[in-house]
Amino acid sequence: MFKVRSLGGIALLALATSGCGLAAAAPQQDTRLPADPTRIEFVDPANISGLAPRTLSGGDDLTRRVRINYPELSGATALNKKLRGDAERRLRAFRENARGVPGAELNVDWELVAAGDVVGVRLRAGRSLTAGRDHATTTFWYDTSTRRALDSIDLLNGDGALDEVARLVRAGLENRGPVVDREQVMPGRARFDSMAFNASGDLVVEFDDCEIAPCSLGRLAVAIPADQASPLLSETGRRAQRDVRRHGQRVAVKRPETAPSPAPAAISNRAGTVDCAKTKCVALTFEDGPGPETGKLLDALREADARATFFVMGSSAVGEPELLRRMAAEGHLIGNHSYQHRDLARLPSSKIAHAFTRTEEVVVAATGARPTLARAPYGSVSTEVRNVARAQGLALVDSDVDPADWRDRDSAAIADRVVERAHPGAIVRLHDTQRATVAAVPDILERLAGKGYTFVTVPELYGSGGMKAGDLYKSGSAPARKQPLT
Ligand code: NI
Repeated sequence: MFKVRSLGGIALLALATSGCGLAAAAPQQDTRLPADPTRIEFVDPANISGLAPRTLSGGDDLTRRVRINYPELSGATALNKKLRGDAERRLRAFRENARGVPGAELNVDWELVAAGDVVGVRLRAGRSLTAGRDHATTTFWYDTSTRRALDSIDLLNGDGALDEVARLVRAGLENRGPVVDREQVMPGRARFDSMAFNASGDLVVEFDDCEIAPCSLGRLAVAIPADQASPLLSETGRRAQRDVRRHGQRVAVKRPETAPSPAPAAISNRAGTVDCAKTKCVALTFEDGPGPETGKLLDALREADARATFFVMGSSAVGEPELLRRMAAEGHLIGNHSYQHRDLARLPSSKIAHAFTRTEEVVVAATGARPTLARAPYGSVSTEVRNVARAQGLALVDSDVDPADWRDRDSAAIADRVVERAHPGAIVRLHDTQRATVAAVPDILERLAGKGYTFVTVPELYGSGGMKAGDLYKSGSAPARKQPLT
């Protein structure tokens, strides 16, 4: 069912390892990573067919900073239902907990930890509700032969096996010192909600931040050696372990040892064929995608001979290389909208840089070209964001026409707001993840074309001067008006 797309073109994506929470504990121990048995290798989703990234985001002010990403796998109905249900539960919980907490944020990202007969989806949630941010992982499993979706403890052969795993984990934590509360390692579905296998087949049991130790320690994980784990596994667990051992290396995501060579060409941010100094131009921009509606949107744009700029979110783009290639092939411009849609202005420079490079790697792997435009999620730009953008060769693009299309699901209202507010040189902010927005696009294109507008990519608004990395652009200028005769 989940076919490996190609065994050749694997190496370009680099989603695993550093910065992704897979260190054994605190970041200062990262130097031990290469030999760290708790490190799980991820399967590159670009190599798996029948997989589509999905996003659940908030539809009101309270949940505006919620982005829950999860994959949908064709034919895996039970797993899709479980993942969707989990996303909805997280959104509801956030809605209750975030009331009265200004700037509360929730991002959930996913990785595949197995993609053979048995599929493993590891969700990593980052939540800012108070001063700090905490991370929690959950790993769900799907058995393609029984078509059942499972929790992590279903990898184990019943309660006796779970008791034994808990005992082995407590033993494995002994050398971590008294800061780890081993009493908290109680057998149970919630506590053992994230288990997977490393490439050697060891069972990796991981705990959330703050779950069994002070939050400052971050992720804690224990690897139970394969020979000790094997007798404790259920039938599904044994097949998952075998899959990861057999195929893990083959389709695992590898960080290239050196930068790909030759360096990918930067996507031009200079003007195209339209001279917006003489023509009424408008730049439609779509962010957060690709999503389930993006293909339809591309059809509508092609129909109207319109070009647009897509600020793609890395976590949505990662399973959609064909859509990215189609965007590029049909004359649209791909920009960078970070990886997980976090508020970048609240992050240190290293994490801002990581959010951009991780997305860049996804775009480069699909299209061979590097984006030169970026849009910060929520338009939230700090000095650090600008400095990182400058260093990474990214011009920052905001918008001056924002119909807040995420707020309602009324296509007619969205179209009206865009058409009323559009002006020559406008940068319009839309979301291709919203069905109502995509449904509004044919109407927007027709009505604005009727007013004489040409639809261009963002750099075309700025003509031959181009755009400068690190600068922030909100609007192009209107074409020069002819002086009235006196
Ligand atoms: Ni966005």
